[in-house]
Amino acid sequence: MTIPERKDDHIRFSLEHDVQCTVPAGFDDVTFIHTSLPELSYDELDTSAMLFGKRLSFPFMISALTGGSPTAERINAQLARLAQDAGIAVSVGSQRAMLEDGSLRPTFEMRAYAPDALLFANIGIAQLIHLGNDAVHGLVDAIGADVLAVHLNPLQEVVQPEGDTDFRGGIARLRDLSGDASYPVIVKETGAGISAEVAEKVSFLDGVDVSGVGGTSFAAVEYHRAAEPSARASARTFWDWGIPTVPSIIEVAEHFETIIASGGVRNGLHVAKALALGASCAGLALPFLEAVQNQGPGGAEALLAQLSRELRMAMLLTGSRDLEALSRRSVIISGSTRTFITDRGFSTEYYARKEEFT
Ligand SMILES: Cc1cc2nc3c(=O)[nH]c(=O)nc-3n(C[C@H](O)[C@H](O)[C@H](O)COP(=O)(O)O)c2cc1C
Repeated sequence: MTIPERKDDHIRFSLEHDVQCTVPAGFDDVTFIHTSLPELSYDELDTSAMLFGKRLSFPFMISALTGGSPTAERINAQLARLAQDAGIAVSVGSQRAMLEDGSLRPTFEMRAYAPDALLFANIGIAQLIHLGNDAVHGLVDAIGADVLAVHLNPLQEVVQPEGDTDFRGGIARLRDLSGDASYPVIVKETGAGISAEVAEKVSFLDGVDVSGVGGTSFAAVEYHRAAEPSARASARTFWDWGIPTVPSIIEVAEHFETIIASGGVRNGLHVAKALALGASCAGLALPFLEAVQNQGPGGAEALLAQLSRELRMAMLLTGSRDLEALSRRSVIISGSTRTFITDRGFSTEYYARKEEFT
């Protein structure tokens, strides 16, 4: 099977089957302190955010999805237009296919449709290990990207029969590349979350996208793709493997200032909670794919309108005129997220009384 065929499979299986984690991302365990006297007007709220030197109208990102096939080309063009019109960030999917066949570059073309958007290039750590810095710079330049996200996907690679499972030397490659790159380099998970230990090891990078458990499960995607009963059984076993998104944001926050929260972000209140926990921006992958594929550009616009309305509602109800104020708001952390983070040595009191500390 070629890489473009596999990419189309990922899209098809994600849209046609249930590929959601059964473990929640943790947003329901996070509660804002309601403000009954906000002293603000809904119309004066400022949702703009700075990310990697570019101003976004909203702290939203269309996370990495695809590239490499005619279907991918059409999806990427639609997502890019949406990002441009809404003033949000957007990413291409893994550029591995383009490395192997340069003629596939147009399927990753987002810049032509999104001249001003903050655009992320994307390559896997398993590929980066075998690439020279110039080849990587070439991938970023070829699509006019602002930032490179190196995806970390050991779960996906190990559950798929054709996966690349040699990750040795990854940290050294990231260090060497980031020292040589003229653009910011971040790491990004693909639905299994990033721990404090991993964040510390790559803290020389410019940011991190946690992509935790709670949204799309790549083990689930591979479960539906697997033909072999034993491969299917193993993918089922690891369906919910990883660190949920909310604990992962807290895990990486000690080591990074720039954090993208993704993995199960499904509404504007989730975005607001992610920002109060320390994220600068929140990414969604499958909801944007479903919107453009099932309902067309109008569906994606409706999703964006819902996200922005709910973010603004959360801002008003916490008395936050802008995202800087929202980032200082206290939150109570309960349930299994509380158990997870307190057992890992993080203080829930800090989050519950943040306004005293910040
Ligand atoms: C069909 C599909 C393809 C994806 N391809 C990539 C990819 O090429 N590179 C990458 O870094 N992440 C990829 N992802 C992972 C997403 O960017 C995101 O981290 C993950 O789906 C969790 O977000 P969600 O719960 O909003 O879907 C893909 C996700 C889906 C659903």
